[in-house]
Amino acid sequence: MKKHPAQKTAIITGASSGIGRATALALARAGDAVVINARRNEKLDELASEIAALGGKALAVAGDAGNYADIDMLLERTLAWDEGGHKYDIVVVNAGRGLVGGILNSEESLWQELYRINVLGAAHLMRRAGQYMVQRKSGDIVVVGSVVGRNVSPFSGFYGSSKFAIGAVAEGLRREVCPHGVRVSLVMPGIVLSEFQGVAGYNEENFGKGIAPFGKLLEPKDIADGIHWLLKLPSHVNVNEIMIRPTGQSYP
Ligand SMILES: NC(=O)c1ccc[n+]([C@@H]2O[C@H](COP(=O)([O-])OP(=O)(O)OC[C@H]3O[C@@H](n4cnc5c(N)ncnc54)[C@H](OP(=O)(O)O)[C@@H]3O)[C@@H](O)[C@H]2O)c1
Repeated sequence: MKKHPAQKTAIITGASSGIGRATALALARAGDAVVINARRNEKLDELASEIAALGGKALAVAGDAGNYADIDMLLERTLAWDEGGHKYDIVVVNAGRGLVGGILNSEESLWQELYRINVLGAAHLMRRAGQYMVQRKSGDIVVVGSVVGRNVSPFSGFYGSSKFAIGAVAEGLRREVCPHGVRVSLVMPGIVLSEFQGVAGYNEENFGKGIAPFGKLLEPKDIADGIHWLLKLPSHVNVNEIMIRPTGQSYP
């Protein structure tokens, strides 16, 4: 495995699947030590073993991305991890869930849970990481938003509102921390095939037919490559926002 001259430590939430998993692998392959977080311990252990087999370093910390105490524990475990050199340089705020349907017909009993994970938990992690990185005068916070956090879609209006919210939090945070040498990047993916669709409740009827004209959809690795690219830019360059869509995706 090729190492960077200065290996960094990256925390990645939502690393048991999809974009988070692919990002952890991409950063580990590039030589970063990774702290991987999600609820499913067994998936994290599998990924940690895969990274170790590649010659990389990984620490699995299970927890709920919407629970402030779990998030605080994730950061504390990272700082106590010998391999990480008692610091972290990168936080990828990625854990989240979707929800099929608009304002009229999405499942209202899931609205609070959606905001708990996608907005409040994500914002708490961004706040804690931002406070730490301002003190250190360096660091990267990468927030995974969505194209529906920029374009209101009648098919996923409530979910999209959570991504509008976290996009606003990301820009607010960026303005607070950029004078201190800390970068914030909002990555807005289009359609990526992952466990996301099943969790959100998409099926052939409400999803498959609509996306058929889009052609080949994204794989999690496509987003991971984008995140890896922006993180490796010189420290005076901050890609504030990036949208990555399948070429054939006209909307959203
Ligand atoms: N796929 C898309 O088309 C798409 C498009 C735009 C944006 N996004 C965003 O990209 C991010 C990653 O999505 P993905 O496509 O990679 O979906 P995914 O395959 O379903 O992965 C979601 C990850 O989030 C974790 N997670 C969910 N709820 C959690 C909770 N309460 N506590 C801790 N971890 C939790 C899951 O782990 P556990 O289940 O093990 O906890 C999993 O690792 C999300 O923020 C999503 O909104 C996805």
